[in-house]
Amino acid sequence: GGEGHIEDVDFSFETPFGKFDQHQLQRGLIIYKDVCAACHGLKFVAFRTLGDEGGPHLTADQVKAFAAEHDVFDPEIDDFRTAKPSDKFPTSSESHIPDLSLMAKARAGFHGPYGLGINQITKGMGGAEYIASILTGYTGKEKEQAGQVFYENTAFPGGWIAMAPPLADQELEFADGHDGTDPHHLAEDVAAFLMWTAEPKMMARQKLGFVSVGMLLLLSVLLYLTNKSLWRKVK
Ligand code: HEM
Repeated sequence: GGEGHIEDVDFSFETPFGKFDQHQLQRGLIIYKDVCAACHGLKFVAFRTLGDEGGPHLTADQVKAFAAEHDVFDPEIDDFRTAKPSDKFPTSSESHIPDLSLMAKARAGFHGPYGLGINQITKGMGGAEYIASILTGYTGKEKEQAGQVFYENTAFPGGWIAMAPPLADQELEFADGHDGTDPHHLAEDVAAFLMWTAEPKMMARQKLGFVSVGMLLLLSVLLYLTNKSLWRKVK
């Protein structure tokens, strides 16, 4: 019981004025690489985009170095070679393990109350919260079924997940001095990173929205003044 429980998190990218926190995305990238990438893939994400503004915003050298830590299969030479910034992250290690590129958009954390989705207006869609809640939702109980171990999880639909708690006992180190051992912080940071992989253009889209609304407001003022001056003589 108790499955489907999603913890609301005040992520920096929520609300119309929200922004991705560059340092959080950089920590999330490290967590992804050091922990999740052992099993999961990010097959839609090119290393190059790690340098984009509005994302982790790594320098060109950092992107190159990060890519070079991976090997990719190149069909042209029919062999593996060192990855370049234009290559994509590796795929999941096994076919039953889901790719995480779009996971933050594939799952909604909030559906209620009564399935109306009103929480989605007040708390956001909750894709990042869903991921953070899965990672922190382990009760410690395990069971074995048909030779497979399942772990009880308060967030996962059905209550039992085939993923062992990935953030237990991690000791990561971050350049910004952040604590790399608290599973709750790690869960939020990697969830924020996966929100970015799923919505890499969120900041650019938001900016365009503000510019568009600004133009419409300006147009309204000009139309109002035009209207007044055209009808001045008649009135
Ligand atoms: C499933 C995230 C590390 C193995 C999942 C799901 C998410 C996720 C969001 C999908 C849940 C759903 O379908 O709704 C992460 C993150 C990790 C991580 C963020 C790093 C912090 C790992 C590791 C392994 C692993 C290291 C392997 C040792 C699996 C498996 C599933 C899964 C087997 C399928 C579970 C099922 O459907 O019951 N993971 N994962 N994950 N993950 Fe991970």
